[in-house]
Amino acid sequence: MIDFECTPRVDLEFMNREHRKAFDDANALKSLLDNALERRLDSGVKEQRKSVLESELEIEADAQVTEPDSVEIDQLLQTLLLDTVTHFELEQQCMEEYLFPARVEHNQEHQRVLVWMAEEHSLWTADCSVETIIHLSDYAADKFPNWLLSHIVTMDTVMASYIHRHGGTSL
Ligand SMILES: [Fe+2]
Ligand SMILES: [Fe+2]
Repeated sequence: MIDFECTPRVDLEFMNREHRKAFDDANALKSLLDNALERRLDSGVKEQRKSVLESELEIEADAQVTEPDSVEIDQLLQTLLLDTVTHFELEQQCMEEYLFPARVEHNQEHQRVLVWMAEEHSLWTADCSVETIIHLSDYAADKFPNWLLSHIVTMDTVMASYIHRHGGTSL
């Protein structure tokens, strides 16, 4: 997990706000996934302890424990996606307005990451299994925040500096 406070700032404040939101979304998702994994593992242990004589009602009650997790994780994946769409749209508008020279390459990178993020979300829609929780934990705690940090210190830093030097101010 990466905390926004430990990352470098760029020259445009609206971008720093979007980056904070993205790290916060990813960290909240990681926490939810950790809790969900813990509950799944707990209920797995309980299942093993159940005797054959236990009623179906009890088994049903245990199954329902995981249901709110799935909905919450889905909602947070949706929030991360919508916040990222907004983040990229704001940067793209800014690059167009100031005719930033590398705007095509920067936009292509944004589009690639949105496709990747939508694919991660669709994994959860298709299968809320322990394997998917583990996969998404790696995405939320490592793959996505490390991509974001690397994007901030390269493309975003160059773009924000250019726009700031050409009269762009914080939105
Ligand atoms: Fe950015
Ligand atoms: Fe960017």
